[in-house]
Amino acid sequence: MGEKSDTSEKDVTDFRPPEDFARNAIVNDPEIYSRTEKDPQGFWEENAENLHWHRKWDSVLEWEPPHARWFTGGKLNACYNCLDVNLQKRADKTAIIWEGERGDIRKYTYKELLEEVCRFANVLKGMGVGKGDIVTIYLPMIPEVIISMLACARIGAPHSVVFAAFSGESLATRIGDANSRILITCDGYSRRGKIVEQKNKVDDGIRSCGLVEKVIVVRHIENDVSMKDGRDVWWHEVMKGSDSSCEPEIMSSEDMLFLMYTSGTTGKPKGIVHTTGGYMVATHTTTRFVFDLKDEDIYWCTADCGWITGHSYLVYGPLANGATIVTYEGAPDHPEKDRYWDLIERHKVTILYTAPTAIRTFMKWGPSWPQMHDISTLRLIGSVGEPINPGAWLWYHENIGQGRCPIVDTWWQTETGMIMISPLPGITTTKPGCATLPMPGIKAAVLDEKGNEVEPGKDGYLAIMEPWPSMVRTVFGNEERFIETYWSKWDNRTYFAGDGAKMDEDGYFWIIGRVDDVIKVSGHRIGSAEFESILVSHPSVAEAGVVGKEDELRGEVIYCYVTLRSGIKESEELKKELRMYAEKNIGPFARPRHIIFSDDLPKTRSGKIMRRVLKAIANEKDPGDVSTLQDPAVVESLKERTKMLESS
Ligand code: WT7
Repeated sequence: MGEKSDTSEKDVTDFRPPEDFARNAIVNDPEIYSRTEKDPQGFWEENAENLHWHRKWDSVLEWEPPHARWFTGGKLNACYNCLDVNLQKRADKTAIIWEGERGDIRKYTYKELLEEVCRFANVLKGMGVGKGDIVTIYLPMIPEVIISMLACARIGAPHSVVFAAFSGESLATRIGDANSRILITCDGYSRRGKIVEQKNKVDDGIRSCGLVEKVIVVRHIENDVSMKDGRDVWWHEVMKGSDSSCEPEIMSSEDMLFLMYTSGTTGKPKGIVHTTGGYMVATHTTTRFVFDLKDEDIYWCTADCGWITGHSYLVYGPLANGATIVTYEGAPDHPEKDRYWDLIERHKVTILYTAPTAIRTFMKWGPSWPQMHDISTLRLIGSVGEPINPGAWLWYHENIGQGRCPIVDTWWQTETGMIMISPLPGITTTKPGCATLPMPGIKAAVLDEKGNEVEPGKDGYLAIMEPWPSMVRTVFGNEERFIETYWSKWDNRTYFAGDGAKMDEDGYFWIIGRVDDVIKVSGHRIGSAEFESILVSHPSVAEAGVVGKEDELRGEVIYCYVTLRSGIKESEELKKELRMYAEKNIGPFARPRHIIFSDDLPKTRSGKIMRRVLKAIANEKDPGDVSTLQDPAVVESLKERTKMLESS
């Protein structure tokens, strides 16, 4: 059972890796840390040997801060490394177990998956897609999303996967920014039994953006949709007769593998650029180390391919390791609140990787749901996306980990591409709520405003001190923003993560959360500025300040402080309308919890809205010094209005 160490008072809540787990773990010698610290490049080079290279690299790292180039001169193909390399030993091994919300199951062996991917790669090629052409994928969690990603990788076309729940408008913005001519989508999908009209969202969204030349539509639910002549084609029709072999495009290590849009502190989402060699080495290595992934494991990452976790730890990392992955299309409470545990029991899942917001939801639903099922196949469980509070960690450990499975709380970001801070399950003594230690090969620190390391126990900013293979290479089409956002806080060789953190006496990292204006709603990143610019585009809105309010279940929820244009009356209907407007423009996951009308917002004398003050008000905390505000009196009136919400 979970071996609680009892060496000293302060350690009573620490958990040592169970002995039998440690004995069989892929990494079980703590010496790995000291060894790699001395030679991080040697460590990455050693792990790069595990991939298939069509040409070996000349140098491991070329570092011209803040630009890193990894494995330069090396040639490889990411799809080849996920599929072809597994043909010899695992051709008939199951690569994907997919389950739809309605209960339909599809499985692909490695051989079958390769054939499907090649077929689709040939379809894309037939449409004139080639190396460097960015393909946008707007699909729910169905096998075609993975097939599309890998097909793109095979022909050297970077993919940009847009989360299916985003609105058509958000989709169009991303297509425009990426200059993408080809879009892959579906007729619709089922969410909690309700149909989402995906194709309609596409038609509305891209109407005004003339870029898209071809839309490939997966028929997923036999939904009636309109197909635009000359532009829209059915997936199953273009796949008919397509050749099932396709030579992989030989890519340079630093060629772009994909773009992933994420919210930042300005109104426009950033296209995070990841390249091929470093990314594949990083995800391949960390998947093995952190999840202790072995050939016989059944690995389930609940993330959606619309986010980075779905890229690194559902698709590229696990498949490059020849794993059997499970992926589920739907909601955790459909048809009942035991769906996840039912899935684990039926598919005999051994590793589960999910998010704190889900864990807190399960906690709210109570332990009787997992207790209905035999989930004893689980041997390791993980968490990602936001800080996990100790209470949820302990619940997860007890009720899902059965007091026996190590928990890996993994800190990383879209920009880091790989897990950066996490326990190694065979070595690390874990503490509930703590992401513990930087991975071998990673150097992290907690710094103050000036870039000095802060003392243990004190809050500071999380920084990464040395380059790593899967680091963001640039912001697509916006190099200044890349430098400004990540490499300007201190010097141009120290990466600013945007998170607050502290280190304890044992050198463990505790992540506190974002220090910039990025809100984390159920682990999804939403930028305050992006949200505000949508609200002010509504004809009734003059100004808006959008902040996160702490929430037990979702981590944070969205509070919108809004001043209306003169002559517009406050009303409940208008609140509802603004809520729907935000939802329509971003997506349902960004629905504001509250719209708070106000005659004025806290502003500096130069007229800049002070989100810091709004955030304090929303969270009923002391806003600190407000004497520099244009009108300090607004603070009191906003406090009052916020209080009224809580009591209503
Ligand atoms: C932000 C990055 C990494 C994949 C999913 C999210 C927060 C992520 C943790 C964790 C505390 C975490 C941070 C980070 N975050 N994992 N284990 N503990 N915070 O990727 O959307 O790029 O968000 O998520 O605030 O900066 P993302």
